[in-house]
Amino acid sequence: MSTAIENSLSVDTRVNGHAGYINGNSTSNGTPNNCTWEQQFLPPPLQLDDRARAIKIDSRLAGLMLCGATLRRVGEVFSREIENGLRERPSSLQMENTYVPELPDGTEEGVFLALDLGGTNFRVLLLELQAGQLVREDVKQYHISDALRLGPGEDLFNFLADCVQDFLRTEGMENDELSLGFTFSFPMKQHSISSGELITWTKSFKCGGMEGVDVAALLQRCLHARGLRVTVQVLLNDTTGTLVAGAQLDPAVVIGVIMGTGSNGCYMERAERVQHWEAAHERVQDVCVDIEWGAFGDNGCLSFLRTEFDKEVDDNSLLATSFTFEKYIGGKYLGELLCAVLSGLARDGLFPAIPARGSLLSAHVSLFEEENVAGVCSRTAEALRDACGRAVSRHDALVAQHVARVISNRAAQLVSVCIATLLRRMSRAHVSVAVDGSVFKRHPRIRTLMERYIALLAPNHKFSLLGAEDGSGKGSALTAAIAARIAARSL
Ligand code: GLC
Repeated sequence: MSTAIENSLSVDTRVNGHAGYINGNSTSNGTPNNCTWEQQFLPPPLQLDDRARAIKIDSRLAGLMLCGATLRRVGEVFSREIENGLRERPSSLQMENTYVPELPDGTEEGVFLALDLGGTNFRVLLLELQAGQLVREDVKQYHISDALRLGPGEDLFNFLADCVQDFLRTEGMENDELSLGFTFSFPMKQHSISSGELITWTKSFKCGGMEGVDVAALLQRCLHARGLRVTVQVLLNDTTGTLVAGAQLDPAVVIGVIMGTGSNGCYMERAERVQHWEAAHERVQDVCVDIEWGAFGDNGCLSFLRTEFDKEVDDNSLLATSFTFEKYIGGKYLGELLCAVLSGLARDGLFPAIPARGSLLSAHVSLFEEENVAGVCSRTAEALRDACGRAVSRHDALVAQHVARVISNRAAQLVSVCIATLLRRMSRAHVSVAVDGSVFKRHPRIRTLMERYIALLAPNHKFSLLGAEDGSGKGSALTAAIAARIAARSL
């Protein structure tokens, strides 16, 4: 369900129906009502009985607390990078033409296979659409081992084709002729709606020998080698799938966002503003552009945001120095960031112990936030005891909750800057933003924070956030149906 937000400065900031209790501060959102525009971006200060400790901690966290002026600056840089990317000038934003020129219109029909690769699990789906509605969905999840995620790319793609074969056997459809939508959630150079080369791996994949390879063609070869009569009809990113699935629910959806393991967005851009076309497009008015904002700033244009904690997370990541913006937002990194900040505080004598690397996950960030909202801290203290290998006090748990709040706040702010910039760029009467991903779904206050910050950053632009389930599955099938519709029209 979505709620339209008429942007104004007095946005409802209830957190899942609770009045927020934040470290002893019982205002509804932790921000005084009479504060300035600038101040409305700052999380409330840490409140501890030991005032001196609280002040020292907040000053160590200052670099993670972004004020309105800094966020405006990020928005200006984002706008510039968008323009450069669209014009094929140097930019940290890929601004990839996805060749998806239209959205669902309720005529989508047929049975489709969908593959979803990019997050924690690999899924194979069989979906049936009737008049644009999903009437059947069979799903099977497959585990991708570290050896496959980090080994030769050929092995990974042979495994994907094995999974499709296994799935079709289970369904009794091994000999059927089927169209497939491949949701491949990594940056690509797309040549058409059904082909594209991997630019670079992100998140937890790093298979050798794959950069520059057409992943749809490789998958097609592996499927044919198994005698399967499956055709890769569309190749798409998860944000595109989310936008398409969202647009089926609400025609005002023209932006798709993922806040999951990684983070990214796409939107419908005017075709004439897109420079890169490898196909005739005279009749195309708008086209979906995959921004790849995870890489925003990789050219140094956002160095003013980077803290020592971000550097630590990046240095310890699988793909250091790339996708640095994603490392501020993505679920794969929020737990590591929490760990890096607590370790920094511990080294300064402001936290009792250094948590073991890998012991805190984004699920902990959500848990600490959930307890903070509820005004309790017993499970926070338990998780910290496991992570630190020793008991921690109630005050230490409050410190960790505060850190979780500060990094969540920054993640919400940064993704909001991107969305607000798109709203201003598109300038439509009302825009719905389809959002999917584990962070958006499980973090107790991310949605409220985003609604608040987008409204502050794009006043006078009406928007709503629409939780769009399973863009990678349903969106993939809908996109395959759209492609089939367009192909039939031009026969
Ligand atoms: C990474 C990928 C991007 C994807 C996002 C969310 O940023 O590069 O393509 O959309 O993760 O899964």
